[in-house]
Amino acid sequence: MRRKIFIMLITCFLLTSFFHLAIADHDDDHKKRKSKYLAPVNNVAFKQECGACHFAYQPGLLPSGSWEKILSDLPNHFGEEVSLNQEQKSIISEYLRANAAEHSSAKRARKILKSLRGQTPLRISETPYIQEKHDELNSNIFSRQSIGSRSNCTACHPTAEQGNYDDDFVKIPK
Ligand code: HEC
Ligand code: HEC
Repeated sequence: MRRKIFIMLITCFLLTSFFHLAIADHDDDHKKRKSKYLAPVNNVAFKQECGACHFAYQPGLLPSGSWEKILSDLPNHFGEEVSLNQEQKSIISEYLRANAAEHSSAKRARKILKSLRGQTPLRISETPYIQEKHDELNSNIFSRQSIGSRSNCTACHPTAEQGNYDDDFVKIPK
């Protein structure tokens, strides 16, 4: 009797492990396929340091060449001085390099990259794809007090932090 129970337990254990493996494999496959949304920011240093003055933009919104330029001129960052210690800088630099548009499977990242044709601008809002997507908005809208500038993605895209910029979710504040 005890032996029967033992064998049953072992069988159960083996079966659950097998299913676990099967599911894990499936997840990996999923990640390799094109994804609809940009991967949300998951790096603590980046979120803290690069999300202090504005929304922490997903690395997939610019190519690595753009991020390199941005990191190489932090004392003159769009009129602000950004200071990072050496450790933070290398963590952030590595995170941006590994997750830049070239390495993203998100539909938007690919479209941004394609529209750039090798250029490496300092702003996401100045990439041809993003500019074209906002073409129909009157420029005055961006200077509303509730928005401030084209850089303030989260003002109009409440789901931006989840990497979702779909027009279905856009809400322009008054
Ligand atoms: C001290 C405040 C501050 C910090 C910290 C900061 N930024 Fe900025 N950043 C700014 C300002 C100001 C702008 C210009 C915003 C505007 O034009 O409205 C800007 C703009 C940007 C833009 C362009 C946005 C666009 O228009 O597409 C990028 C990209 C950017 N920052 C990346 C970073 C990264 C990466 C870090 C971390 C290393 C960082 N920022 C940290 C102040 C800051
Ligand atoms: C003034 C509000 C506003 C700001 C600020 C703004 N957007 Fe948008 N965005 C919109 C609107 C409205 C649309 C939909 C335009 C349309 O469908 O014609 C849009 C469309 C988009 C799209 C295409 C969506 C789709 O379904 O095709 C992307 C991607 C996008 N924005 C990214 C950004 C990023 C990244 C930023 C910040 C750098 C940003 N937006 C800043 C209002 C804004």
